[in-house]
Amino acid sequence: MANFSLPANSRVTAGRKHKAPAGAKRVMPFHIYRWSPDEGQNPRYDTYEIDLDTCGPMVLDALIKIKNEIDSTLTFRRSCREGICGSCAMNIDGTNTLACLKPIAEVKEAVRITPLPHLPVVKDLVPSLEQVYAQYRSIEPWLKAESPAPPDGERLQSKEERAKLDGMWECILCFCCSTACPSYWWNGDRYLGPAVLLASYRWIADSRDEATGERLDALEDPFRLYRCHTIMNCTETCPKGLNPARAIGRIKQMIAERKA
Ligand code: SF4
Ligand code: SF4
Ligand code: FES
Repeated sequence: MANFSLPANSRVTAGRKHKAPAGAKRVMPFHIYRWSPDEGQNPRYDTYEIDLDTCGPMVLDALIKIKNEIDSTLTFRRSCREGICGSCAMNIDGTNTLACLKPIAEVKEAVRITPLPHLPVVKDLVPSLEQVYAQYRSIEPWLKAESPAPPDGERLQSKEERAKLDGMWECILCFCCSTACPSYWWNGDRYLGPAVLLASYRWIADSRDEATGERLDALEDPFRLYRCHTIMNCTETCPKGLNPARAIGRIKQMIAERKA
């Protein structure tokens, strides 16, 4: 898997250590990035020793245990705890993934957890999603059709047309992919990134949508689309097993074909 660990010269320093309760037999330390705008300090790693015999199996279970039982100031997002909402996306042992789908058994002995990389940090493990959601809004992610819907029901698709949306409708907008993309790190203000481009292709590929030309026009830009250099970090890191790089390739192909 792609690895995005903090550099050795990072200004993140060692922080507080919270020991496991006396008598705990299966103890594992979790090193967790802490930063609060209210404290005016550099970021630090706090270490929490967890008794795995009293903890659920996933990394999110450990975070919830820390918040409930050890340190209520630890801040992170989560909601569904089953890989559906995308809230708990973070970097675990150098890989962007969902904490609720990541078994503790699969991480290193002393796991290091940081926010998704290259986004401004709001607090601790919570990144600002303002930019990515503004970019998502910009692609107008809804069905656009001028022709009236059939008077007796919905706009229908054949099974084959519907199947073209597989691999895209499953995206939960966790942004693990965009924040693993080097092009997005350097040009995130102008490059849309793999999550938003996958969402855009979801509508371009929809047989009921009548704005394909308009959507392709909006993407045909050296930055919005063509900053993708097929490095594939996005596809490698997606916790839902999706392939944003392939969707980006198909958009490029459609733009090339309409010029031919
Ligand atoms: S394939 Fe494109 S979008 Fe995916 S990581 Fe590489 S440059 Fe980024
Ligand atoms: S493509 Fe995968 S990694 Fe990217 S936002 Fe969607 S679910 Fe998350
Ligand atoms: S809590 Fe919803 S995806 Fe992890």
